[in-house]
Amino acid sequence: CGIVGYVGTRQAYPVVIKGLKRLEYRGYDSAGIALLNGGIKLYKKQGKVADLENYTIGKALDGNTAIGHTRWATHGEPSDANAHPHLSGSGEIAMIHNGIIENYASLKADLLKKGYHFNSDTDTEVLLNFIEDIYKNNGGNLEEALRIALKRVVGAYCILLIETSHPDTIIAARKGSPLVIGIGKNEHFLASDATPIVEYTKEVVYVNDYEIAIVKPDELILKNLGNEKQTPFITKLDLELDTIEKGGYDHFMLKEIFEQPKTILDCLRGRLNAENGTIQVSGIENYLDEISKANRIIIIACGTSWHAGLVAEYIIEETCRIPVEVEYASEFRYRNPIIHPGDMIIAISQSGETADTIVAIEKAKEQGAIIMGIVNVVGSSIARISQTGAYTHAGPEIGVASTKAFTGQLAALMLVAFKIAHHKQTITEERYRELCAELALVPGKVEKILEQNDSIKAIAETLKDSSDALFLGRGYNFPIALEGALKLKEISYIHAEGYPAAEMKHGPIALVDEHLPVIFIATKDIYHEKIVSNMQEIKARKGRVIAVINEGDEITPAIADGVITIPEADEIIAPILNVVPLQLLSYHIGIARGCNVDMPRNLAKSVTVE
Ligand code: G6P
Repeated sequence: CGIVGYVGTRQAYPVVIKGLKRLEYRGYDSAGIALLNGGIKLYKKQGKVADLENYTIGKALDGNTAIGHTRWATHGEPSDANAHPHLSGSGEIAMIHNGIIENYASLKADLLKKGYHFNSDTDTEVLLNFIEDIYKNNGGNLEEALRIALKRVVGAYCILLIETSHPDTIIAARKGSPLVIGIGKNEHFLASDATPIVEYTKEVVYVNDYEIAIVKPDELILKNLGNEKQTPFITKLDLELDTIEKGGYDHFMLKEIFEQPKTILDCLRGRLNAENGTIQVSGIENYLDEISKANRIIIIACGTSWHAGLVAEYIIEETCRIPVEVEYASEFRYRNPIIHPGDMIIAISQSGETADTIVAIEKAKEQGAIIMGIVNVVGSSIARISQTGAYTHAGPEIGVASTKAFTGQLAALMLVAFKIAHHKQTITEERYRELCAELALVPGKVEKILEQNDSIKAIAETLKDSSDALFLGRGYNFPIALEGALKLKEISYIHAEGYPAAEMKHGPIALVDEHLPVIFIATKDIYHEKIVSNMQEIKARKGRVIAVINEGDEITPAIADGVITIPEADEIIAPILNVVPLQLLSYHIGIARGCNVDMPRNLAKSVTVE
């Protein structure tokens, strides 16, 4: 979910609505806003922020204090009633909440006994009335009521509260779900990330877990749950407005795919010196000895970031000769993981806020593992928990399906792997230089792939009516097959699966008929001949073959029904290139099917609930 708040001298409504649109990638099944103006004005609507905006036309929208929310449903289906903000029983307090209150059922049972009624199915309304119950008995001190309530709460939250008796104050609290406060002149902005704030101010405070913020136009007080004042740590935002706008593209997804030559370069810049054949990643330099001695690396991530982890497994094992395991964060956190001294964790996350990943790495850290973060959002929770790591520097990614963040992750992981391999001397000096030189060529090669947008669109036309698709790759490209399939199902709702090409014989081949498109990642590597044989096996069963191949491949075009030809690269580097045509393919298929590619149904970009 995304949350926004404003207190200051401007009209709050336009600031909050604009902010919610920027945060819509975090959830978009319902939205709402509460304004303080001689009482609480509450408007909420199932659907997108634009639906809320239409609904408020002609309504009373004046006021200098407001809180707003765009929701990704957890408790209760998307509906007007379940949308936030929620209003307390007395109508005196409004609240928005991002996260999950795990012990809501027992709190609710107590409140029902006391005669409270609930208008929604949400855990949020339970927490709000729990707060109000304390508030009624403590003489109406909302800050104190919140503090007492939070001590009883199990779960994750970022909360914003307003009350009619303090029309110029927002009270906020955070545990597990992010909150940034922008500091302006006689005004403050509150949001789940900095994107709603950047056009007004570059000075921000990242609120920490277990902190409460009391925010007025000219005052920001931070306290811990023990009611002790904390000194706000002001950070300067390194974020430009144009990076979070569409800049002439029809969709963020397309813009972000086309940004990749630049974002990959941004990741390599200052780190890779191809002329001297050297890599410097400042975030890991101090830990190089320790990492090199690691007995085992466990990579923890979710979604697309997990696929980046799988590519890294192949690369790290090959170059650094350290055994690697790749774990889904949600599985790892609950299965009493075995961590030995000398184990190292790599956490990969675009947002740096994925709840499962955060908890998983906290658990590993408690057991003594060193945490390396490969994170895109600067200052995010995972970046702060990690002792060492590298930012991916892909810039804000707004499209819900990850594209440039994924290639950024691969670039950062390659830099880290090659650097460790060189330090450990598990690759020769010559190979190290070769890999550095190859990595430096990636942005230019991605540029060349993007030039094929039209021909990829033409292939997309031929696939748009499929009900299923299979993506196959081997070795470094097996995870790319998984990512290609994930992209397609997210964006177009076509059921798709990724498989190691040879494993296809052990099951998925049963699905092959003249209707099933099979997309091969068949660029030149040691498996090339084998994958061509797999293609023949599909053709022999009348499947439709589309292949991503390299320039100079004369055999595949004679077998495949369609080919996408891309520049050749060292097989270790190739995955970062090979995913790009698959991103474009999914985009065009999604568009051809009339899907909302930037906000696919049911998904959210940043999953801050477990
Ligand atoms: C969500 C997003 C995915 C993303 C995953 C992990 O499911 O829709 O695109 O890969 O979360 O997110 P993270 O921010 O940790 O990379």
